[in-house]
Amino acid sequence: MKNTLLPSKRSAIDPFIVMDVMRAAREREEKGGNVLHLEVGQPGTPAPKIVLDAAAAALRQDKLGYTDAMGLPALRARIAAHYREKHNLDVAPERIAVTTGSSAGFVLAFLSAFDAGARVALTNPGYPCYRQVMKTLGMTPVAIQTRAEHNWMPTRDEMRAAGKDGLDGAILASPANPTGTMLSPQDLQMLIETVQGLGGLYISDEIYHGLTYGGQAHCALEFSDDVIVVNSFSKYYCMTGWRIGWMVLPENLVRPVERLIQNLYISAPTLSQYAAIAAFDAGEDLEKVKAVYRQNRDLLAAELPRAGLTKIVPATGAFYLYADIRDFSDDSYAFAKKMLHETGIAATPGLDFDPEFGHAYLRFSFAGKTDQIAEAARRLKDWLG
Ligand SMILES: Cc1ncc(COP(=O)(O)O)c(C=O)c1O
Repeated sequence: MKNTLLPSKRSAIDPFIVMDVMRAAREREEKGGNVLHLEVGQPGTPAPKIVLDAAAAALRQDKLGYTDAMGLPALRARIAAHYREKHNLDVAPERIAVTTGSSAGFVLAFLSAFDAGARVALTNPGYPCYRQVMKTLGMTPVAIQTRAEHNWMPTRDEMRAAGKDGLDGAILASPANPTGTMLSPQDLQMLIETVQGLGGLYISDEIYHGLTYGGQAHCALEFSDDVIVVNSFSKYYCMTGWRIGWMVLPENLVRPVERLIQNLYISAPTLSQYAAIAAFDAGEDLEKVKAVYRQNRDLLAAELPRAGLTKIVPATGAFYLYADIRDFSDDSYAFAKKMLHETGIAATPGLDFDPEFGHAYLRFSFAGKTDQIAEAARRLKDWLG
């Protein structure tokens, strides 16, 4: 007889290691140990005040029932206005779907555009959940091993090589996690055209838009309407736990995504949707938060080499530095564990982001407080020095 308590084969996916690291850090704190949090990929500050006020008003005024599956019309209209203001783009609100974070966005993208067996390119290193969710859905992730000397982004030839046995699509984030590197507008356009030339769908994860330290990031919609854009209020807008994001869809995927949302989660949290409408008007507060990240980045980028971690590509976006630790260890998992145990510094092993070479890298997040980062740099110099 079949043991009904056995987990399914499709659930046998790798853990999201950073969440395991976060748990180890919390356990250390619960035992009275102190932890410097350079592992978490989330802002250290709460949502801006006008967002909190909008949520408080919604609590008082609205019954907070379900919304349309695709989201509150006012939020979809506000997101469309954001594309006009930031990118000078006309995006019809009907093409916008409000999601429970970009996590739901990329799952909906995969479910609506690809069948089991679809071959979809992604990068190593890259955001681990793309690969893992694809596997769970019976898709075939096609990993492109990117290189530090190419800014951790795929070249045209690498994308073409990924398509040699056929390619149904590609998903890329710029700015990227875990490297903080970005595509130039020319390279973004080139990759979109290369993927489309191979007959595939380009999915652009723009969750770190807004968090750039040189020029503004370009949106994939500037180059094509036949792409999926995934975005979120989690990072720039400091709203990780509100679980709210959005996607922009090509016309032919609007109704399929609507049907999927109806069946999967009915609608995104209504309270968060009201709050998110206000988030676009919090620019001044959010730019102040970003100024702290910039300061943190400059500090960490100057101090890590002094601790002996010299091989790091400069981050122009997001809030991460991806450091080559080969001079000290070839096992980033053990190294991160030992570092947490002996110094109280939590960072994420590269293995999370790159199953092949991540054993030689560690991701440091600079989204936290400047004094914590300065203290981490000091302890790291003592520990490795
Ligand atoms: C590249 C990338 N995409 C998607 C996500 C998921 O974020 P959320 O679901 O909070 O929008 C993250 C979170 O760290 C990320 O780094």
